[in-house]
Amino acid sequence: MNDFVFCAPTKVFFGKDTHKQAGSIVAGYGFKKIMLHFGGGSVKRNGVYDAVMDSLTSAGIEVVELGGVEPNPKMSLVRRGIALARETGVQLILALGGGSVIDSAKAIAVGTANEEDPALFFAKVAEPKAALPVGTILTLSAAGSEMSNSCVITNDETWEKRGLGSDFHRPLFSIMNPELTYTVDRWQTGCGIVDIMMHTLERYLTKESEMALTDRIAESILKTVVEYGRIAIDNPRDYEARAQLMWAGSLSHNGLTALGRDYFMCCHQIEHEISGMFDRVSHGAGLAVVFPAWCKFAYKHNIHRFAQYAVNVWNCEMNFAEPEKTALAGIRATEEFFASIGMPTRLSQLDIPEESIEELAWNTTFKGKRTLPGYGEYGKDEIIEILRLAL
Ligand code: NZQ
Ligand code: ZN
Repeated sequence: MNDFVFCAPTKVFFGKDTHKQAGSIVAGYGFKKIMLHFGGGSVKRNGVYDAVMDSLTSAGIEVVELGGVEPNPKMSLVRRGIALARETGVQLILALGGGSVIDSAKAIAVGTANEEDPALFFAKVAEPKAALPVGTILTLSAAGSEMSNSCVITNDETWEKRGLGSDFHRPLFSIMNPELTYTVDRWQTGCGIVDIMMHTLERYLTKESEMALTDRIAESILKTVVEYGRIAIDNPRDYEARAQLMWAGSLSHNGLTALGRDYFMCCHQIEHEISGMFDRVSHGAGLAVVFPAWCKFAYKHNIHRFAQYAVNVWNCEMNFAEPEKTALAGIRATEEFFASIGMPTRLSQLDIPEESIEELAWNTTFKGKRTLPGYGEYGKDEIIEILRLAL
């Protein structure tokens, strides 16, 4: 087991009707004026916005609103949010939505508290030194941003989508009511299931194997997501299924599933280029295409680990004489599961033409400035090979 630092400081308010406590929670921290940040309208259509506004205004909180966050959130709206936050002097950014809204809120919070243009932080040219606090009311189980240190923004001038990890991105609190996810459609539910699995798998299928407790936590998160994900897809209003997915989403990405080992989220890096270049692509759907291809490219570097995944998560039978067969059975089971919940597993299903592969691979290396570590060093050629396996 490697040494580690574990920090998951977000206070979680989990359960039915918790969004109606938003006002008392915000007031309890002493905030009087906040920005409520939300997306393209789902929270208005399903009544959640009204319930949250009632709760905030009844608690005497002054609310400045900024809606309109798009999936794959954009830097231009972040800049508008920073200007508004400075002009109005809000003390907290409260995100009401999924990963895109939360990430946009995180970027506004950091951008408001620092002088530099926020794009410089994502380009790793400057480092943030402070941030306004962020609270979240989660409406979609997927990205894990409600507890993570990460924030992913698309620069809508260059169409580069870049992540930035920083402890300034850890939300102060997150309100999680699984009932708020009843209106999430089949497609976004599927995308969320894949993303939660991928946050776990990218920390599990690594070079080092020696961290039994972390492995077992990861395997149970994966099994839980598969079991309850199927139920949520068939019955979107099943509270237990929505609740299991929601908590799994937070645990999969708050650092717990990586303790004691090094990891690098290679499929995420490739996928961010896909949903950066092709803004219509949902993050989880992009991952469902990249992951099986990456597995086929990578599994030979650690057959034992892929076989362990197949046996412990998918109940495949261990073939001791030919463990490679077991490893491949696990990859196949994953791909079949993704397809069974309506996810694409090929680039063509995302309408991404073969001719884009070279540019996607080049962009993933930040135009030749980096390689991706993991099972070997992946440069442009290796990434092309991976993407070709997704054709
Ligand atoms: O915009 P509205 O109208 O609210 O609709 C959204 C959006 O169209 C809808 N939705 C959300 N809650 C709903 C709902 N529809 C009905 N009922 C509800 N209760 O769902 C659509 C997708 O929302 P989005 O927030 O984009 O999805 P997700 O939570 O999957 O977030 C994806 C973003 O997070 C990033 C991704 O790259 C992507 O940009 N990630 C962030 C991470 C982090 N910060 O830690 C880690 C992840 O790996 C990921 O990269
Ligand atoms: Zn993800």
